[in-house]
Amino acid sequence: MTNIGFGIDIGGSGIKGARVNLDDGEFIGERAKIATPKPATPDAVAEVVAEILRQEEWDGPVGIALPSVIREQVALSAANIDPSWIGTNVHELFHRHLGEDREISVLNDADAAGLAEVSFGEPAAAQGAVIFLTFGTGIGSAFLTEGRLFPNSELGHLIVDGEEAEWLASSAAKDREELSFKKWAKRVSKVLAEYERLFSPTAFVVGGGISRDHERWVPHLTIDTPVIPAELRNRAGIVGAAMAVSTHLAP
Ligand code: BGC
Repeated sequence: MTNIGFGIDIGGSGIKGARVNLDDGEFIGERAKIATPKPATPDAVAEVVAEILRQEEWDGPVGIALPSVIREQVALSAANIDPSWIGTNVHELFHRHLGEDREISVLNDADAAGLAEVSFGEPAAAQGAVIFLTFGTGIGSAFLTEGRLFPNSELGHLIVDGEEAEWLASSAAKDREELSFKKWAKRVSKVLAEYERLFSPTAFVVGGGISRDHERWVPHLTIDTPVIPAELRNRAGIVGAAMAVSTHLAP
């Protein structure tokens, strides 16, 4: 029998969800997507999540990935979502919208993606002391030691050269400043060099939509640590969220 879960990934522009085959990390059926409400307040977002689950006729456990620090199921930050998330008890919020009896896990989106990569993606993600990064609207990070997660690392907000790393080197920064891959890779090198200096990982695994184009920028990076493109890319957040709830992981 197939082991099936459901994951939701909440992003600045879209809220996406899919059934996930937990044995191989593949989606089952189409991914559902609804635009993120504006403003992206906790109740408005939770209502969209409820709508996706209704559409998909899923009443089982659900894992939810959010661009926020989640400690003991309370959101402690809100980058690219409404500031009213800060201090929100996400356990209480999502149970109110999705049903009191439903099993729900909420975790940081990059942490979810990192976990998915460990199980179903690039084998290097599961070995050694790895820093997994997602490049998108922000820079998300997951600290992985032999595939186990230390949650909420938030390396996108480390100050590098007087700026937040994600302001300098997210893929949104590349778009905003219309940087070539080569110019942008210089910025990424600067940020990775700082992570390298502080944490000495055995490897960086780089994900997010822009990892699809890894051949255009990874070869330009100038750091010593190996940089390995992730395999799962944008699918990872949903898959990792579904995995988290199935393993009762709720940071
Ligand atoms: C947020 C992180 C998130 C990352 C990727 C950052 O701005 O602070 O929590 O993981 O963006 O979405």
